[in-house]
Amino acid sequence: MIISVTSLKGGVGKSTISQNLAVCFAHMGYKVAIVDTDTNASSVHWSGIRDEAHPHITVMGIGTSEALRKNIKQLEKDYDIVVIDGTPSLSKLVSTIIILGDVVLIPIRPSGLDIWATEKFIEKYDQAKALKEEVKAFFILNEFNSRVSLNQSIKEALAELEIDTLKSTLRHRIAYEEAVVMGMGVYEYKDAKAKKEVTALANEVLKIIS
Ligand SMILES: Nc1ncnc2c1ncn2[C@@H]1O[C@H](COP(=O)(O)OP(=O)(O)OP(=O)(O)O)[C@@H](O)[C@H]1O
Ligand SMILES: [Mg+2]
Repeated sequence: MIISVTSLKGGVGKSTISQNLAVCFAHMGYKVAIVDTDTNASSVHWSGIRDEAHPHITVMGIGTSEALRKNIKQLEKDYDIVVIDGTPSLSKLVSTIIILGDVVLIPIRPSGLDIWATEKFIEKYDQAKALKEEVKAFFILNEFNSRVSLNQSIKEALAELEIDTLKSTLRHRIAYEEAVVMGMGVYEYKDAKAKKEVTALANEVLKIIS
């Protein structure tokens, strides 16, 4: 099972969501790997500081479309769930990440800038769909606050697009920033609300792919 987390924009939460989903799945008993495709290698670094007392998550860096294609089949055999932490670019690698995913998650922060980036993303998505019949792709609202009217308007704008939006959303929480620098996911951290929302996200994703 491959979960691709991708976007064309930097800093929208790809690595945060990849790591936090991986942590939830590992606690649920799945054998999990993260493939870090970004040159800044943030998931690789995260793995380096992760305490061995926590459930193990294999993290490896793969930086080209060709290498990803060559290694992904074996990874799929060796792990129950492979999460691909994407790179923000218009490269061939992004198309490969979209095509390989059994489910593709596209994090969006509810700002105008992120919405505009979705147009470019949809072009990529349409190209990928021409090569693969069914691409299950979903936007995931990150740093979302339902009480802010701009956030709600963005949610409504996304609903007009051909890609669905997941019901689960993540709030802006310090816990995400604090957990990551300790090599953890919020599932393992002290913020119960963060743990609850990330567990709901993991369950929603599992439901889609099961
Ligand atoms: N829900 C959240 N609450 C608080 N901080 C967040 C949240 N999501 C992401 N962040 C923070 O925002 C920053 C960018 O997130 P992240 O590194 O996950 O984005 P990215 O899409 O992987 O970026 P890049 O494109 O550079 O790889 C990080 O410092 C992260 O800790
Ligand atoms: Mg990243």
